[in-house]
Amino acid sequence: MFNFSYKNPVEVVFGKDQIAALSDLLPKGKKILMTYGGGSIKKNGVYDQVKKATADFDVIEFSGIEPNPEYETCKKAIDLAKNEKVDFILAVGGGSVVDASKFIAAGALFDGDAWDILEKATPFNKALPLGCVLTLPATGTEMNNNAVVSRREKGLKLSFCNNAVFPVFSIMDPQATFSLPTKQTVNGVVDAFVHVMEQYMTYDVNAPLQDRQAEAILKTLIEEGKKVLKNPNDYDTRANIMWAATHGLNKMIACGVPQDWATHAIGHELTAKFGLDHGQTLAVVMPALWQVQKEGKKTKLANYARRVLDVVEGDDDKAADIAIVKTEAFFNELGMKTKLSDYGIKKEDCFFIAPIFEQRGRKLGENGDITPEKIKQIFTFAQ
Ligand code: NZQ
Ligand code: ZN
Repeated sequence: MFNFSYKNPVEVVFGKDQIAALSDLLPKGKKILMTYGGGSIKKNGVYDQVKKATADFDVIEFSGIEPNPEYETCKKAIDLAKNEKVDFILAVGGGSVVDASKFIAAGALFDGDAWDILEKATPFNKALPLGCVLTLPATGTEMNNNAVVSRREKGLKLSFCNNAVFPVFSIMDPQATFSLPTKQTVNGVVDAFVHVMEQYMTYDVNAPLQDRQAEAILKTLIEEGKKVLKNPNDYDTRANIMWAATHGLNKMIACGVPQDWATHAIGHELTAKFGLDHGQTLAVVMPALWQVQKEGKKTKLANYARRVLDVVEGDDDKAADIAIVKTEAFFNELGMKTKLSDYGIKKEDCFFIAPIFEQRGRKLGENGDITPEKIKQIFTFAQ
């Protein structure tokens, strides 16, 4: 097992009707900026619950944060936070709202142009404190220190990671997810599933606890992901998906093990270029990436096949092949497409992405061996 350090200060408040706990969790006597997206929270009752719980607080609102949050939108909120001397940010929504709010929290106390946090990876060590009411299980952002922000005029989708943006608290009421359209529910299950894979599907370092924790999350997502399509208003199913997605990327399973993240890196470029949803890009890239990287991932692919997918096959090579086919079949069973052609995209349209990472000085894959040529092969398998 590799050396590691792990820190996670997020207070999780999970369960039915827990949005009411805001009145205890928010700092008294402070100015709060409530951020949200395009209005789903007004339709499903979450907005009303937040307003009720914050009736005694000084709250201003900023709405209109879009999926794959846009820098220009965040910039407006940063200016608002500065002008209004906001003390605390309350993000209410999915990963996009929470990520945007982390960037706003950092930008509000950043000296200079906040865009540098993303494009130049300029370090910073302070941000406004932030709390979150999560409405879409997927990203794990509610319990991690990452954020992803896009700048469409530059064709960029970039991320940062900084301990200053861990939420102080995250409220998760699974009832708030009943209103999710099927597409977003499935996007979320696939995103969480791929997060686990980025931290698990690498090579064996004799870390059986982390492996089995990852396998438990995968198995839960497969079982509950199928259930939620049949019974979207089942509380326990929604709760299990929500908690599994949080564990997918609170980084516990990454302790002491190699990580990949190439599927995400390539996927972000597909979103930036073609506007595909985050989860959609992952379902296209990951099975193809596994084909290209099969040799290095074979032991783990075979373990996954046997322990998670219940494959009875003694030969690692064959078990690995079955794992790839079955994973794609699972995505398809959820109604998630797994080919570029399903979105009318040709592999050649993606080839411009192949050299991007080298140009940015980033090596992809757990061994840093995903060359531009291999990225082209991935698009070829994915077409
Ligand atoms: O904007 P509103 O009206 O709220 O509608 C949203 C949005 O249209 C809707 N929605 C959210 N909760 C709902 C709901 N509709 C009905 N009922 C509800 N309860 O769903 C749509 C998608 O929301 P979004 O927040 O964009 O989805 P998600 O949570 O999947 O977040 C995706 C973003 O997170 C980033 C992605 O790249 C993408 O930008 N990620 C963040 C990560 C992190 N911070 O650690 C890691 C991930 O890998 C990912 O990259
Ligand atoms: Zn993701």
